Amino acid sequence: MPTIRFEQVEKSYGAVRVLPPLDLALDDGEFTVLVGPSGCGKSTTLRILAGLEELSGGEIFFDEKPISDLASKERDLAMVFQDYALYPHMNIAKNMSFALRLNKTPKAEIETKVRRVADMLNIGHLLERKPAELSGGQRQRVAMGRALVRDASTFLFDEPLSNLDAKLRGKMRTELAEMRDTLDKNMVYVTHDQIEAMTLGDRIVVMSEGVIQQQGTPEELFKAPANKFVAGFIGSPTMNFLNAELTSKKDVLFAKGDGFELPLPKPLAKSLNGYAEKTVTLGIRPSSFSSDTKIGTPIDLRLVVSEYLGAQSTLVTRCGDAEVLVEHDSSSPVRTGSQLTFGVRTDELMVFDKNTELRL
Ligand SMILES: Nc1ncnc2c1ncn2[C@@H]1O[C@H](COP(=O)(O)OP(=O)(O)OP(=O)(O)O)[C@@H](O)[C@H]1O
Ligand SMILES: [Mg+2]
Repeated sequence: MPTIRFEQVEKSYGAVRVLPPLDLALDDGEFTVLVGPSGCGKSTTLRILAGLEELSGGEIFFDEKPISDLASKERDLAMVFQDYALYPHMNIAKNMSFALRLNKTPKAEIETKVRRVADMLNIGHLLERKPAELSGGQRQRVAMGRALVRDASTFLFDEPLSNLDAKLRGKMRTELAEMRDTLDKNMVYVTHDQIEAMTLGDRIVVMSEGVIQQQGTPEELFKAPANKFVAGFIGSPTMNFLNAELTSKKDVLFAKGDGFELPLPKPLAKSLNGYAEKTVTLGIRPSSFSSDTKIGTPIDLRLVVSEYLGAQSTLVTRCGDAEVLVEHDSSSPVRTGSQLTFGVRTDELMVFDKNTELRL
């Protein structure tokens, strides 16, 4: 499989610039997930890689060889489109085997491959039907199967699970993770769902407005987000951001704001050199609160709503004027409107520059 590299790749549609010069390197055999909000340029990036859109500038390299001049079909790719279209007059088996039949793969081999992939996708019983006779989620799995039967070196997936119900999504995610571990292929996967990104990606590329915010392993993005955007995008429920002033008392640096005063751990305080007495953005993950107030530093929050999710609840609370989400064990009940005290694990706090939004 080739290593893939974008060098100063740009894309504009007329006066609309979708991708500013973008650099990106994908390691050989890696499962890369492009994630970001709707309209940030994920599909555009994938379509450029697939050769379906022309570059407005820059170059893409496969194994350090420029590929701009290669037509889509010469790039050894299999792609699942976001707006997949099946051939309406062909049955599912024929739809799935279209590319294989085109390149004259022996019939027996086609049958084995289609059967294996169809079983994996749970559509083995639908092979004789026409696309119009399937549900949206089943059609989406056929589109995926059409790519997976092929023997390409690189697979490109654009939101391939978006039409599936939650249970099927979970199952397909597991299948894909298994494929990632058994097939030694390049996979580039686009989603706006951060849970999908976290569970599938060897590495994740977080995009916003065409700009790469950070590229890293799921753990790197969660534990060491480069900026406020990544910190807020990765992790569910989303991170709380509070205005805070840094104040120093007896060698300890505190983040102080409306309704809280939290001591910052030594290593973090050290990296905040020069920010003392300044206003910053404090980041607290909902999972950093403990109902055991002996843990960390106590904070008082007023409960607005409790959202029951099963074993866990998300508590929507107020700290001064700010809304604060808290992950809470559902087995200890809480009453709306009540004042609650939690322990904050201060070693998990993050601090962001107010202007640049970079993590400090
Ligand atoms: N043909 C086009 N002409 C003009 N603008 C376009 C065109 N195609 C896409 N865009 C714009 O480019 C931006 C990026 O689009 P893209 O499809 O890459 O987003 P995306 O990240 O895949 O979003 P989604 O999650 O909604 O699929 C959008 O703002 C979109 O409006
Ligand atoms: Mg898209």
